[in-house]
Amino acid sequence: MNLQERFLAHMVKKISTQYPEELPSRFQLLCLHFAWGNYGFMAGLNYLKQIARATDETKGPILECGSGLTTLLMAMLTKGRNIHIYSLEHHPIWQEKMTKTCQKLGFDHVSIINAPLKNFGDYDWYDVDKANLPMDFNLVICDGPPGKIKGSRYGLIPEMDKHLTESCTILLDDAGRKNEKQVIEHWERRHGFAYRMKGVFPKFAMVNRAPAYAKGQ
Ligand SMILES: C[S@@+](CC[C@H](N)C(=O)[O-])C[C@H]1O[C@@H](n2cnc3c(N)ncnc32)[C@H](O)[C@@H]1O
Repeated sequence: MNLQERFLAHMVKKISTQYPEELPSRFQLLCLHFAWGNYGFMAGLNYLKQIARATDETKGPILECGSGLTTLLMAMLTKGRNIHIYSLEHHPIWQEKMTKTCQKLGFDHVSIINAPLKNFGDYDWYDVDKANLPMDFNLVICDGPPGKIKGSRYGLIPEMDKHLTESCTILLDDAGRKNEKQVIEHWERRHGFAYRMKGVFPKFAMVNRAPAYAKGQ
């Protein structure tokens, strides 16, 4: 293990051990940032903090779009709670790296699913066998695919809606970017979701079904 890997293992142990009494502090999240070191791709501190809170509160399986530090953080806070994390990953080398990292850290309740991007007409989205996915995701962490693909992250709702509960919360990262703003507006107008912007830079959005559109109403 090199120094950075040791630092990561140390932070994972520290945060896992203090949970559930304490959620990771801002300083610990900052340390995790340095320990992971995938600058330019990993989530910001405010987003991580919100993910930690939401993971602590959730009871069912978690869907993630785009794996990385967010996956590891959720894995620390769900180990031993009978909560499985399904993380869709389009990049085969990254999928392999994340799978190995989870194995090394003992996170056998995390599946990093190899899901190449596929065109679905107006948008691209992960090509995943939905028959193997739960129907009761109550929390979705959407930090992928990369924003520049066709339709950006719009595909989440048309492709995965049937797998999300009525009270499902989606935490969409990079919500201040032009493409992601458009995504949220389309989710709102076409699919009946509502959102609140959070964070300063980078911004993220907390997205839920608007009450009037909840399934069955
Ligand atoms: C914004 S990143 C997701 C980051 C993750 N949620 C985190 O907090 O670390 C979205 C996608 O970028 C890709 N990616 C991550 N790190 C990368 C790297 N160093 N080089 C190229 N692609 C990368 C992966 O395919 C990932 O799913």
